[in-house]
Formats: sequence, structure tokens, C-alpha cells
Amino acid sequence: MADFSFAIEPVYIATIFFFIVGLQRMSNPLTARSGIVWAGAAMLIATLVTFFTPNLTNIGLIAIAIVIGGGFGYIPAKRVAMTNMPQMVALFNGMGGGAAAGIAAVALLGPTTPTSSLAVVGGLIGAVSFSGSLIAFLKLQGWMPSRPITFTGQQIVNMAVLVLAIVSGAFVILQPASLPLSVNASLPLFFILALGFGLLMTLPIGGADMPVVISMYNAFTGLAVALDGFSFVTPNYAMIIAGVIVGAAGALLTLKMAKAMNRSLTNVFFGAFGATEEQAAQVSGSVKAIEADDVAVLLAYADRVIIVPGYGMAVAQAQQKVQELTDLLERRGVRVKFAIHPVAGRMPGHMNVLLAEAGVAYDHLFDRDEVNPEFPSTDVVLVIGANDVVNPAAHRQGSPLFGMPILDVEQAKNVIVLKRGQGKGFAGIENDLFYRDNTRMLYGDAQETVGKLVQALKKL
Ligand code: TAP
Repeated sequence: MADFSFAIEPVYIATIFFFIVGLQRMSNPLTARSGIVWAGAAMLIATLVTFFTPNLTNIGLIAIAIVIGGGFGYIPAKRVAMTNMPQMVALFNGMGGGAAAGIAAVALLGPTTPTSSLAVVGGLIGAVSFSGSLIAFLKLQGWMPSRPITFTGQQIVNMAVLVLAIVSGAFVILQPASLPLSVNASLPLFFILALGFGLLMTLPIGGADMPVVISMYNAFTGLAVALDGFSFVTPNYAMIIAGVIVGAAGALLTLKMAKAMNRSLTNVFFGAFGATEEQAAQVSGSVKAIEADDVAVLLAYADRVIIVPGYGMAVAQAQQKVQELTDLLERRGVRVKFAIHPVAGRMPGHMNVLLAEAGVAYDHLFDRDEVNPEFPSTDVVLVIGANDVVNPAAHRQGSPLFGMPILDVEQAKNVIVLKRGQGKGFAGIENDLFYRDNTRMLYGDAQETVGKLVQALKKL
């Protein structure tokens, strides 16, 4: 085969440009899809050009691995329901961490070099990301209890496992002849301890904090890949830069999500959120139901309406109907806005993506800080399948939600909550909004109830 190895470095550099453009485009819902295509194309090109590496062996095995891995990725990704996306991301991210740990293992099996310590750190972080992400996947998929799993002395055990992992990693590099552990034994031991640490670190974290955790493991995977990029004789710039981009973007997303859920990272990792029962739910009064026809009248004669979508809208796939409703109301001269909470739904940007798909104009979407001052002058707020993000318990000391910035919908003149029954939100906490005098409940699957509102409005 002709020698094209001269092209590898320039092509890697070009793919880095593609990655950056892709990431930049992902920051806006309107261009996000094309951002994924840019980044995917970069990955494909980087993978293909790697086949021109001089003296590359096992080409057949590599090709088979790519076909199997690609198939296992493509089919479930095509089939997965939007609401199961977080666990899918956890699983795929875990695979990335595992691959990074595998690359580090290969580097460490060779002779020790000045960059072997980076391979040890990359291997440690990659293995933690792999086993931690798998636990996150199992918890979110419901294949293991999503509540925090705790035991006495847990943090001491975790620390001990981490210290032992670091010590065995040091043995791998130093290979001290006088010590009983040869490199052959210390390398597997190092990876077992690193995997164990990832597992132990994730067990005490409850389902409610999982998105933050997944995002952090995503940052870990990026960092591990970047460190791996240094661990070969010639540094691999595509791995280093792509890894740094993933690490930085993941870290930023982690911090933003933690802020939106009012969770400090220390609290997420060491707080065992949800481990304790909330003190007696502080609700009083009764919930009052309302019929779709009455809600339609309220909406039709309102001046300002704010729609607050949440996870239930995604489950019900009600976004198309919501768009229809918005059109009808606007044609009647009602001013309609959407209030988007940063962690509404189950993944960052969940509501924005669904509403954009349904054709809701982007200039209708407002974030919490923009919209909160408007609730007192709003005639009707329609809460569609949202719960935690509108829970006033967030203002009450002692509540597990205390301090979470919420949408203050309870200040509106009328609040209509569309949900199926008395189900709690993701945090499992009672919501006294439903018991307020200005709140009415419109029960049913959101797609059906919004459909009824559309029909009733058409008749008015
Ligand atoms: P949730 O608090 O999860 O509440 C959703 C509500 O939707 C439930 O109370 C449920 O009540 C209702 N519902 C479910 N299916 C429905 C259907 N088919 N039709 C109508 N209603 C339905 O949602 P939220 O307010 O969007 O808050 C998100 C929560 O998830 C937060 O706690 C957040 O921290 C967490 N979280 C967020 C993310 C990200 S990054 N967005 C990721 C993971 C977790 P019924 O059962 O009575 O219908």
C-alpha cells in the first residue's frame, strides 16, 4: 500500500477544527444537529486516517471491532426513547472511559517512558469513568435501586481503595525489583482497584444527582483520552486536543447543572442525596381538579399565558399539540411565552430540543431569570408535566430541594397543572403548588389533555 503516513498529522489537525466547529454549533438548538454531524464526520475521518499509520498490525481485528462497536452503538441509539437518553449517554460515555483505560493499559505494557505516569493517571481516570458510568446506567435504567447505597465507613473504604490504586499505579511505573509486586501483578491490580473506586464512588449517589455525575464522568473520559494522547512515543494531537475539548466542555456542563439543581459537587459526591426521608411533607388544603373546557375559556380570554414544560410533556410526546395550542392562542391575540428551566426533563436542553422539533419559535423560549419577574402579571400558567422545577419547597429550609432555583409559577393569577395523577417529580418530593388556592389540576396524559384544550379552543 502507498505510504500516506505524511497525511496523518495534518488530517488530525483538520479534524480538530471540525470538532471545535461542531461544539460551537451544538450550543444553539437551531444548529445543534449539524454540530453533531460536524463532530461525527471529524471522528470518522480521524479513525480512517489512523489506518495509514506505518507498520500498523491487526488491521482485520481493528476493522471487526469497529463494525461490532459501531453496530452496538447505532442500533440502540436509533431505537432509544428520548426519555431514556441520559442512561444511553452514561453507557456510551462509559465505553469511552473504558477505551481510554484500555489504551493506557497498552502503553503501560510497553517499556517505561518519561510519560508513563501520564498513562497511569489516564488509566485511573478512564477506569473510574467506565465503572462509574456503568453504575449510573444501571441506576437510571432501573436495573438496580436508584437510591443512594450507603454503608458505615464508606468514605474511608473509598479513600483506601483510591490510595491503593495510586500506589499500585506507582509500582507499575517504578517496577521496584526489591518489592514483592512485579509489574505483571501490579498492572491488573491497579485496574481492578481503579474500577472498584469508580463503582464505590457512584453507589452512594442517588438517581436525582445522576445527570451531574454522568456529565462529570464525561469530562473524566475526555481528560483520560487527552492524557493517553501523551503516552506514546509520538504524541497523538487529535487525542490530546479532542480530549481536552471534551474534558473542558464536560466540566463546564457539570458546574452549570450542579448550579441549576443547587447542588455543590462535594454534596453530589459525598452527600447521599435522598438518603433521608423528607421531614413530613408540608402541604395543606386539597387539590382541585378542572375540566379542559373551563381551562380553554380561561386561556381564550387571557392576555398573557406562560407555558412551563417538564418531563411529563416529553413522556407524553405532547410538544406538537402544545405548538398547535400556542398557534391558536396567538391567533386570538393572547401573548404566549415558554418558561424553560435548565434541568426540566432529563437532560440538558431537553425541552428546547423537543419544542424546536415541534416548530415552536426560538424567540418564544425564556429562561428562569428572564421570566420569573413576569409571573405575578401573568393570567394563566400552564404547567405541562413539570413538577420539581416549579416546586415552592425549594424556598423552604429543610427540604432536599432547598435552594434550587425554581420557576415561581405560584405567583401567577391562575396555575393549571397538567399531569396524570398524584405522581411525584424526579426528586420524589411532595409539591404544595398543587394545593394552592390559585392552582387547578387538569388530569390525564399531557398529549390527550392538550389535545382536548385545542379542540375546546377551536369551538370557542
Ligand atoms: P419531574 O419533576 O420529573 O415531574 C414530571 C411530572 O410529569 C411528574 O410529576 C408526573 O406526574 C408528570 N407526568 C409523567 N408522565 C406524564 C404524562 N404522560 N402526561 C402528563 N404528565 C406526566 O419533571 P421536571 O419538573 O421537568 O423536573 C425535572 C427533574 O429531573 C428535576 O428534579 C431535575 O433535577 C431532574 N433531572 C434533570 C435532568 C436534566 S439535566 N434536565 C436530568 C435528570 C434528572 P404524574 O405521574 O402524576 O403524571
